[in-house]
Amino acid sequence: MSHDSAPSPLSSSTGSSLTGTIRVPGDKSISHRSLMFGALAVGRTTVKGLLESEDVLATANAMRAVGAIIEQLDDGSYSVDGIGLGSLLEPEQVIDFGNAGTGVRLTMGIFGSHNIAATFVGDASLYKRPMGRVLNPLRDMGTNVIARDGDRLPASIRGAETALPITYRVPMPSAQVKSAVLLAGLNAPGETTVIEPIPTRDHTEKMLKGFGADITVSHNENGERVIKLKGQPELRPQDIDVPGDPSSAGFPLVAALIVPGSDVTIENVLLNGHRTGLITTLVEMGGDIEIINRRENGGEEVGDLRVKASRLNGVTVPADRAPSMIDEYPVLAVAAAFAEGDTFMPGLDELRVKESDRLAAVARGLEVNGVPCIETEDTLTVKGGADNIGGGTVKTHLDHRIAMAFLVLGMASHRPVTVDDGAVIATSFPTFTSLFEELGADISANASEAA
Ligand code: S3P
Repeated sequence: MSHDSAPSPLSSSTGSSLTGTIRVPGDKSISHRSLMFGALAVGRTTVKGLLESEDVLATANAMRAVGAIIEQLDDGSYSVDGIGLGSLLEPEQVIDFGNAGTGVRLTMGIFGSHNIAATFVGDASLYKRPMGRVLNPLRDMGTNVIARDGDRLPASIRGAETALPITYRVPMPSAQVKSAVLLAGLNAPGETTVIEPIPTRDHTEKMLKGFGADITVSHNENGERVIKLKGQPELRPQDIDVPGDPSSAGFPLVAALIVPGSDVTIENVLLNGHRTGLITTLVEMGGDIEIINRRENGGEEVGDLRVKASRLNGVTVPADRAPSMIDEYPVLAVAAAFAEGDTFMPGLDELRVKESDRLAAVARGLEVNGVPCIETEDTLTVKGGADNIGGGTVKTHLDHRIAMAFLVLGMASHRPVTVDDGAVIATSFPTFTSLFEELGADISANASEAA
């Protein structure tokens, strides 16, 4: 899980057009939360379509460490026998979250209001990421913390004996921070309020409601989202059907747009409005994307996406769209490389603190493959339509989305593209290579031959 072993490069090159119908794995955000909320309910939650990636399996282990029983059933779905809010056991070992920022930050929230001690470790990427954004509000709620300088992992916490419900205004657009405070608030007596000036994905709010929590969302006079949660509810187990991850769908979506002659259908994709910024942007760029069979599934909108190769034009992506496509900028930058004209992406400061400094990693990856771009502190401009794209080796910096985005670049480039480590893809999309091969893509492990 730690990715400390030898890197395994992967290369992609132009092959045939991409055709066929696929399903991408389950949504990562909903998968993490299904296991966590299932662990906090009393009784059996079942989860169909759970994303079986390293990140999510790390969360399963963390929930097992505090007493939940999580098993895979004969039909492939998972059962979570919850231990119940307020009854978590103290983990006996350190908890290794590998690469998983969502896993560790949300779990810190849950443990932070339980009177247990826990130590969190992870991989080199996770050790660089800021945890203060979650640990600070938890301190306000009574959690004791010992962390490395700058509130980095490894960190240990001892949860509050009786947590204080707080009112917290989230200082950056982050669903992880919002969620950590709400999850700590679950075991605090009284009402926890989170004010969200810029809306972010709402899976925590929606799913907690489904599990029976008393949670309301309204807007204040400034138009900010105000989320109120009454502490210490009895959470009821649920049967969850996890829809396909729109962030993972972004890779075949962009690939089908840029590889000439492609026609791909991606079934059962989550279409929650807080997650569809990439689709909106690609349609604005001229992408032929049809949403068919829009339907509701377990309180979420889902649909099938039919996408055909298209001529794309550069656009300006509104900064306020960033939270609804925050994980999709690397692959959008790849689409922009094949568009006519410039694509300008402002409001990207949060990309600096993802699994890598994603803004820098994207810019360097484009440059090494002959795509001109301009990087500023919080913007990226990609100049589309360069001649002779490809031929470079991209540094992935333990970032799964950098690896996948640049493999997509190679599928439409003039020369092959190599990523220095394909193993990191298992973080979120373990079936990436096999699904793309099914569509006709050419991905090879033999970097030296392809590069
Ligand atoms: C996530 C929130 C986002 C996103 C991450 C998943 C979540 O992170 O990048 O992949 O499930 O809450 P931030 O909260 O840091 O923006």
